[in-house]
Amino acid sequence: MRVLGIETSCDETGVALYDSEQGLLADALYSQVEMHAEYGGVVPELASRDHVRKLIPLIREVMAEAGLTLSDIDAIAYTAGPGLIGALMVGASTGRALALALGIPAIAVHHMEGHLLAPMLEETPPAFPFVALLVSGGHTQLVQVEGIGRYSLLGESLDDAAGEAFDKAAKMLGLDYPGGPLIAKLAQQGDRSRFTFPRPMTDRPGLDFSFSGLKTFTLNTVNDQRDEQGNIDPQTLADIAAAFEEAVVDTLAIKCRRAIQQTGYRQLVIAGGVSANARLREKLAAALQKERAKLFYARPKFCTDNGAMIAYAGCQRLLAGQQSDLTILARPRWPMDTLPAI
Ligand code: KG4
Ligand code: ZN
Repeated sequence: MRVLGIETSCDETGVALYDSEQGLLADALYSQVEMHAEYGGVVPELASRDHVRKLIPLIREVMAEAGLTLSDIDAIAYTAGPGLIGALMVGASTGRALALALGIPAIAVHHMEGHLLAPMLEETPPAFPFVALLVSGGHTQLVQVEGIGRYSLLGESLDDAAGEAFDKAAKMLGLDYPGGPLIAKLAQQGDRSRFTFPRPMTDRPGLDFSFSGLKTFTLNTVNDQRDEQGNIDPQTLADIAAAFEEAVVDTLAIKCRRAIQQTGYRQLVIAGGVSANARLREKLAAALQKERAKLFYARPKFCTDNGAMIAYAGCQRLLAGQQSDLTILARPRWPMDTLPAI
């Protein structure tokens, strides 16, 4: 089965073609990051309009790259939520309409399920059951995964998502949006031990997270380090970036290890934009070694938003006989544990 995947939930337009026999045939991405950087964050109306401009050309690009035509597609998978309503509507209405015109089924895909299954596109995929750490710009969740649609929430952030914390801390350090990769880069030149940031909620039991306190701690540290003219020496900025990254990564690693111990599972999947973070991967690999557990993640371009993960997730549900009706489904909020099992 050949599935065209469409992702437009936030600030990247992603399209991909996945074949259940041959794997990924083609994928293309257009990131709006530069457009939103000027505003220091995603401007929803601009995002929707840009998806309108880029989606059809990207679909053409993917079909050309695969050397196929629209008549070679068996189904369409589109992201139906969670995300920005206007942005979602572009992919949902295009995907649904295209499927109707071609006389093929469409399936509405949950964005976070897409992220969660993205590591399945790699050469050595995890096998069910596993624990998943979903860390994106909007979500931080630990999920017990028994199969597709068989998800139990083990813990989540009570306030900011990990990616959001990276983005906000980056702003305080004078870095652009999205801040995660920029903090990671700056942190490489930093001394990780000069400042010690808190590891929120690690001193009590449970698997929930809280990152908003780290934000305040970062702001106070930045302000303490300013000279009389309000300037900060570049090395100090790098040291703060390193201390911040270390605190977030350590906190995530402590909770992941706890989730592995609690479930008795021996596989941890990390997914979503923050799973691209090299320090997180390094720390988790070390933490999991002690538990004799294995770590799985997607290649960097499939950690952040993309069409391939949507095509893959949609394909699995379609193969199980599921499909969506003619409704153009767009749900800004959509709890993942309400999804049907396959
Ligand atoms: O999954 P994603 O592309 O979009 C959402 O579904 O939210 O995640 C984007 C988030 C942003 O907050 C970005 O700063 C963060 O992922 N991110 C990173 C890295 N790459 C992306 N955070 C830390 N380190 C990275 N290397
Ligand atoms: Zn995402």
